[in-house]
Amino acid sequence: MAHVGIDGERKSGIDIRAEHVTATMAISNIVKSSLGPVGLDKMLVDDIGDVTITNDGATILQRLEVEHPAAKVLVELAELQDSEVGDGTTSVVIVAAELLKRGTELVKNGIHPTTIMTGFRLALKDAVKFVKSTLMVTIDQLGDDAIISAAKTSMASKLLNADEDFWSKLAVDAVRSIKTHTADGKARYPVSAIHILKAHGKSSTESELVSGFAVNVQRAAQGMPSMVKNARIALLDFPLQRHKVQMGISVQVDDVSEVEGIRQRELDITKERIQKILQSGANVVLTTKGIDDTCLKYFVEAGILAARRVKKEDLTRLARATGGHVVVTLADMEGNETFDAECLGSAEMVQEERVGDGEMLYIRGTAMSKATTIVIRGANEFHLDELDRALHDVLMVVKRVLESAAVVAGGGSVEAALSIYLEKQAQLLATREHLAVAEFAQALLVIPRTLSVNAAQDAIELVAKLRADHHAAQLDPKDNNPLKFTGLDLFSGDVRNNLLSGVLEPAISKIKCLRFATEAAITILRIDDMIKLNPKPPPDDPRRGH
Ligand SMILES: Nc1ncnc2c1ncn2[C@@H]1O[C@H](COP(=O)(O)OP(=O)(O)OP(=O)(O)O)[C@@H](O)[C@H]1O
Ligand SMILES: [Mg+2]
Repeated sequence: MAHVGIDGERKSGIDIRAEHVTATMAISNIVKSSLGPVGLDKMLVDDIGDVTITNDGATILQRLEVEHPAAKVLVELAELQDSEVGDGTTSVVIVAAELLKRGTELVKNGIHPTTIMTGFRLALKDAVKFVKSTLMVTIDQLGDDAIISAAKTSMASKLLNADEDFWSKLAVDAVRSIKTHTADGKARYPVSAIHILKAHGKSSTESELVSGFAVNVQRAAQGMPSMVKNARIALLDFPLQRHKVQMGISVQVDDVSEVEGIRQRELDITKERIQKILQSGANVVLTTKGIDDTCLKYFVEAGILAARRVKKEDLTRLARATGGHVVVTLADMEGNETFDAECLGSAEMVQEERVGDGEMLYIRGTAMSKATTIVIRGANEFHLDELDRALHDVLMVVKRVLESAAVVAGGGSVEAALSIYLEKQAQLLATREHLAVAEFAQALLVIPRTLSVNAAQDAIELVAKLRADHHAAQLDPKDNNPLKFTGLDLFSGDVRNNLLSGVLEPAISKIKCLRFATEAAITILRIDDMIKLNPKPPPDDPRRGH
């Protein structure tokens, strides 16, 4: 690159495209075998030997520490899907990689990348429209059982599957219990109000739903009450310690008794601080930092329940739920120390209870919003972590179904229907984009194909059967032919009506999956040049040679 004055390596055109396809296919191939109810798990061991066993696409990719820039786009894509939808992280990566592969093939055949991108966008728009107009079914039509079915579909590939009745009920109850309404009267289910606590021991079916907020801390001293009713909670983000004269300040004393005086004053300052908190009416004190013995003594004397080392995020959530504020300092604008009673949160009851091997603090009847905690039990750390991740997917799915009240049939049904529909659309297009739309249609089939391969079934035959049914459904002018819900039955190796069999997914998660996958493929397709600068050599050491 010396001739243009760039110190680095430049790759452009088809070379860089081919490299991107290789990198993204490698990523997609890693997660492929974990797709679907018969997908397998991955064990990941990091550089310090920590083991993670998981089936969750986003988690697998996050732990891989991918370096290739194009592959990183896919990893971020999975993260986006995880935070926006919760479920579908494996599917989104597989679809995006397939779209990119097919898009690059078209470029190789001489189609301009811009045409391909326009074609993909067009296909996406048509696909979303078709899902909304034809494939989507509302919960009103199906009844409440559909919510449970959607939860079960989401956990089909996860550890939770063994006790699906138990977990789906627990998840639906949990999400329902935190229902709130927005200003314009819409029901909302903020999943962040569900707190998941992991406790070792017992079997996973002994997990329980606790109404209220549970925090994994104990009261700081035995002499404190273990239960406080009508709790007024002070939420502090500073340590409660004996006040000390600051570092670097020197005090000259002539008389030994004056040292005692300084000590006494230090104690008094501490006592005054605690008094200020107590005078505001607080009877429970939680802090993210420590509480030393001197302060504990004052709390025990006043009969206050105090706990230290509460996680910051727990405290912030608790502040939201109880209507309090996290206080970071007692100092006010004038330089005095005060504690405002308005910062206190309130709850009906705060109680310490025994769970598993340790104690936990339960905060029940929080003033502002409802809070729910799921205490999950399990044999070991790996088990608990994976249960937690799977439960997160399920909770998000239930939330999506309850909020948007619409589902689609799963098991490759939507993908097959869309592929038939888009093929037809491509034929109707009289522009150059029709090739890209046709490739988009083909790319979607990667989902039913992978599902059948993972289930050790004949992928070619099953996908052909699926397509035949959807073709018949779309030929039917009546528009509600039940064949449009045909999906895979992976256990018997046949096709069936997945709407009736209860394999359901939230419509919104399918739509977002298509949208994110297309955007990611386009982002990478736009790149036609990559310049990697050489690292700068270290500056010459002036002492060298001396
Ligand atoms: N009983 C079932 N029969 C057929 N297909 C199913 C069944 N249960 C789930 N599926 C399909 O499995 C796919 C979901 O698989 P999986 O949960 O492993 O991946 P994901 O949701 O894409 O990613 P992740 O759950 O890791 O975030 C969906 O396409 C769904 O329709
Ligand atoms: Mg899933």
